[in-house]
Amino acid sequence: MSPFDPRMMLKELPPAFVWVGILMLSLLLVPPAIILRARAVPSESRRIHIIQNMDNQPKYVDQQENTLFVDTRSMRPRVPGTIARSQMVSDTHYFLGTSEGDFATTFPSNVVIDEALLKRGRIQFEVYCLPCHGVRGEGDGPVHDRAMVLLNAGVNGTTWVQPKNLHEEAITEQPVGQIFWSISNGIRNMAGYASQIRLEDRWAIVAWVKALQYSQNAPVERVPGADTLPVRTKVEPGEGDAT
Ligand code: HEC
Repeated sequence: MSPFDPRMMLKELPPAFVWVGILMLSLLLVPPAIILRARAVPSESRRIHIIQNMDNQPKYVDQQENTLFVDTRSMRPRVPGTIARSQMVSDTHYFLGTSEGDFATTFPSNVVIDEALLKRGRIQFEVYCLPCHGVRGEGDGPVHDRAMVLLNAGVNGTTWVQPKNLHEEAITEQPVGQIFWSISNGIRNMAGYASQIRLEDRWAIVAWVKALQYSQNAPVERVPGADTLPVRTKVEPGEGDAT
C-alpha cells in the first residue's frame, strides 16, 4: 500500500479532523436546501434579486395600492363628465365624414381646398394608396401586380381581391364623406388607415382622389387642346404592340 493511499491518510488523521470534515460537508448541503425550499414554498417577502437590471422601479402597477387616495386605488376612475384629449368627436362631418346620419356630400368647412391640400393629398396618396390602387387609382398598383404573379404561379394559398378602380362609376358617384369613411375605417377587404394617416391628411387624400377622378373624366371643354391629344387606351400587360 502506498503511503498516499487515502485510507491510510484518514487513519493517520486525528479523529477530530475527520469529524470537522464531516460537519463541514453537511453544512455545504444547507444552502442548496434553502434554495430548494425558497423555490418551492410561497412567501410574502420579495425574492432575493441580486442583479437588478432596473427591474424594480418606484411606480404604480395595475391593482396596486396607493395610500395617497382615500379609496387607496392606484388605478384612478375617470372623472365623470370628462373626455380624453383628442378623443372628442365634436364635429362628425370633420371627424367621421358624416352629417346628419349620412355620408357628407361636401368637404368640412375647416378643410380648405387649395393647391397645397392637393399637393399634400397627392404625396399621401402615393405613400398609402398607390401600392394597391396605382398612381392614377386604377387598381393596378405594384402590390396588385405582385399578387397576380403569385396567383398565376399558383403559390400555395394566395388569394387576392383586386383593389378597386377608383374611376368606376360606383365610386366616382360616392359622396366625399364616404371615401373619407372608407379610408378611415376600411371597406370589405381593404383595411382602415385611421391609425396611420392623420385626420387632415385623410381629407387631403379624398381631395386628391376627387382630382384623379376628375382628371380621367373631365369634360372636353375643360381641357385646353383636348382635340389634339391622342386618346389613351389602356393596354393590358402582354397585349397590344408598339404601333
Ligand atoms: C393593401 C392594398 C390597399 C391599399 C394600400 C389601399 N386600398 Fe383601397 N381598396 C383595396 C381593395 C382590395 C379594395 C376592394 C375591397 C373589396 O371590394 O373587398 C379597395 C377599395 C377601395 C375603395 C372603394 C370603396 C367602395 O365603396 O367600394 C376606395 C374608395 C379605396 N379603396 C380608397 C383607398 C385609398 C384612398 C387608399 C389610401 C389611403 C387605399 N384605398 C389604400 C386595397 C387597398
